[in-house]
Amino acid sequence: MYVCVCNGIREKDIRRAVLEDGARTPLDVFRACGATPQCRMCVPDIRRLVEDVLAETVALGQVCALARPEAPALPAAEVARKAS
Ligand code: FES
Repeated sequence: MYVCVCNGIREKDIRRAVLEDGARTPLDVFRACGATPQCRMCVPDIRRLVEDVLAETVALGQVCALARPEAPALPAAEVARKAS
């Protein structure tokens, strides 16, 4: 699903930007996607998706830590790769 129509940024692009490129803000997402903000109508949606992905990553990390308390925490990119 396209989130930013002006730049053709999809939900999966935002997820990748957060998990692989460390994006934490909508501007980070634009940079990671090689795009620049145009109308900015998508910024609230991008912000919400970044927060959702980060929350999912934290929750998954907590589940992994509970399942294997002796195992070290996985980097976010590794967690995403295992989840897909
Ligand atoms: S919809 Fe994203 S900049 Fe216009």
